Amino acid sequence: HEEFTKVKNIATIELGRYEIETWYFSPFPPEYNDCLKLYFCEFCLNFMKRKEQLQRHMRKCDLKHPPGDEIYRSGTLSMFEVDGKKNKVYGQNLCYLAKLFLDHKTLYYDVDLFLFYVLCECDDRGCHMVGYFSKEKHSEESYNLACILTLPPYQRKGYGKFLIAFSYELSKKEGKVGTPERPLSDLGLLSYRGYWTRVLLDILKKHKGNISIKELSDMTAIKAEDILTTLQSLELIQYRKGQHVICADPKVLDRHLKAAGRGGLEVDVSKLIWTPYK
Ligand code: COA
Ligand code: NA
Repeated sequence: HEEFTKVKNIATIELGRYEIETWYFSPFPPEYNDCLKLYFCEFCLNFMKRKEQLQRHMRKCDLKHPPGDEIYRSGTLSMFEVDGKKNKVYGQNLCYLAKLFLDHKTLYYDVDLFLFYVLCECDDRGCHMVGYFSKEKHSEESYNLACILTLPPYQRKGYGKFLIAFSYELSKKEGKVGTPERPLSDLGLLSYRGYWTRVLLDILKKHKGNISIKELSDMTAIKAEDILTTLQSLELIQYRKGQHVICADPKVLDRHLKAAGRGGLEVDVSKLIWTPYK
């Protein structure tokens, strides 16, 4: 935990074509303490105090996309997998940047232990980061996501749900169930609730006959507890004769689906080329 007062220091950042107002304190190295604004290279995420430094940097920086492997491409969207051990500085820069928008993630991760999944919108100038999530290489608690961020200019367009869906697609490929690390922020919880609701209710709507939480979990890679709390919060679970029973009246399902918001951007699994980390 940080000993210093957590006064928000950096008020704005420049990143690619955006100037972004920050939300929270982030523990940048002390030499940046007197800065109100930081200039980020949108590709390597190195940050600088002055615009001229950034301009000089941009003439030298060879990167046009995040380091690491492109594991997904569909239309203009690409996902890169960055190993924190192989790209330590990038991983640290990403953490500094992300903390500006994350309240409670005070921990300083050892980036070596994480993979970073960086989502980009690509054009002829390069691949521009939209958001990312991080994932522990080995999680005892079956976490499939540690931190998730959509950069503010890109929020509320379905990228958050895309990132969440992507994290579950990776879990499916691993043959494991997953759950996000807690605590979740308010926006994080809203996004997850929306995602879980949509995925589960879509299945319940199409399914004929009985289905168990375990079966739902096997189909979706969503952890059984998260399925139970989601369905409970929608009041779709009854307890009968010592068993949880899912009540799936089509009209009720439709009403909940409508309330769960838009579906977000779809992950096209056929475009995901990935093998689990070993
Ligand atoms: N107000 C109300 N609801 C919101 C919201 C807001 N400002 N932002 C997201 N939501 C809810 C909505 O239900 C939305 O679905 P809808 O647009 O169909 O109604 C759903 O969350 C997800 O929206 P989506 O566009 O897919 O997500 P996003 O790209 O905006 O990203 C976060 C969601 C959580 C990643 C993003 O808000 C973020 O980066 N927040 C800061 C970091 C953070 O808190 N991360 C989670 C830490 S656990
Ligand atoms: Na999180």
